[in-house]
Amino acid sequence: MKQNIGRNNKGPENENDYAVQTFGLTKKYGERIAVNAVNLSIKKGELFSLLGPNGAGKTTAIKMLSCLIKPTAGTAAIMGHDIKRNPAAVKQIINVSPQETAIAGHLSTWENLLLMGGVYGLSKEETKKRAQELIELVGLTGRAREQVRKFSGGMQRRLSIAMALISDPQVLFLDEPTLGLDPQARKALWKQIEKLKGQKTILLTTHYLEEADALADRVAIINEGKIVALGTPSELKKDIYGMQTMVIKAQNFTAEIIEDLKKAYPQTKKAENGIEIRAKELVFDDIVDYLRGQGVKIQWLSMKEPSLDDVFLSLTGKETADEVS
Ligand SMILES: Nc1ncnc2c1ncn2[C@@H]1O[C@H](COP(=O)(O)OP(=O)(O)O)[C@@H](O)[C@H]1O
Ligand SMILES: [Mg+2]
Repeated sequence: MKQNIGRNNKGPENENDYAVQTFGLTKKYGERIAVNAVNLSIKKGELFSLLGPNGAGKTTAIKMLSCLIKPTAGTAAIMGHDIKRNPAAVKQIINVSPQETAIAGHLSTWENLLLMGGVYGLSKEETKKRAQELIELVGLTGRAREQVRKFSGGMQRRLSIAMALISDPQVLFLDEPTLGLDPQARKALWKQIEKLKGQKTILLTTHYLEEADALADRVAIINEGKIVALGTPSELKKDIYGMQTMVIKAQNFTAEIIEDLKKAYPQTKKAENGIEIRAKELVFDDIVDYLRGQGVKIQWLSMKEPSLDDVFLSLTGKETADEVS
């Protein structure tokens, strides 16, 4: 997997083809390194996903790129403007839909958008025209005059994205846009985000592999502040092609049996009512014979194809839902 790093990073020959470039971008909080020497190049018009578990450094990276906090070391350029030397120019061409949305609950969709237009110094006419378009784009037509505190999480998130779009940014940062949404609301939001594809350069962070897979042109996997893999979703999956997972549900598995299996298959772990074994070559008969010989009564057995979750697991040793403190 490591050989992936840089392989797809050659990208355009011309520096001007990049919307975002980071150069050893680093942020430390005391002894803790939240973002660790990150080098990334995002092409203009690309939907790029930064994928990683909680605490990986995604929000910290976005905060640096949007000039809300200063890097401890390294830097980045947005459309050629250095975030340290020229934050004013950067702020003009980017916008953020933050992880914690900043909408005013007592105001309506319409009022929130007008307020935002004012913040960006747009004329009243311009703001109204854009607000109208954006309300349609994010599917809030018909709800524009209601107080947004009554909206569902998904609707609030759509409004937050519309608010980030009011300044017509060249680069849009979406920090965990579907965090906490139910699967249906998440899919609805994917459709809205898909509409923006190709129109804006988008950096989207997520800890849902499925989301990066569905939306992103390219994905960088971040873990403990470091980029551990980079590629298109299909390239990332190809790297573990052939990796299989065998799920066995059975009674009377002992710790000894699991230890024994680990000798042949190091990626053996306990699962619900049984075990899971991951490997490139699983010798089915051997495993079953061995278990029978140990007096294990197999109740159910199946093979799983690799998913992006497996990519993540093989890179980081962590499930994506893991909390990192
Ligand atoms: N203001 C802060 N002060 C101290 N530590 C922080 C601060 N913000 C984030 N961190 C730490 O930096 C790491 C990365 O956090 P964050 O960027 O929020 O991760 P993510 O967005 O990927 O969940 C975490 O270990 C987090 O606890
Ligand atoms: Mg975050």
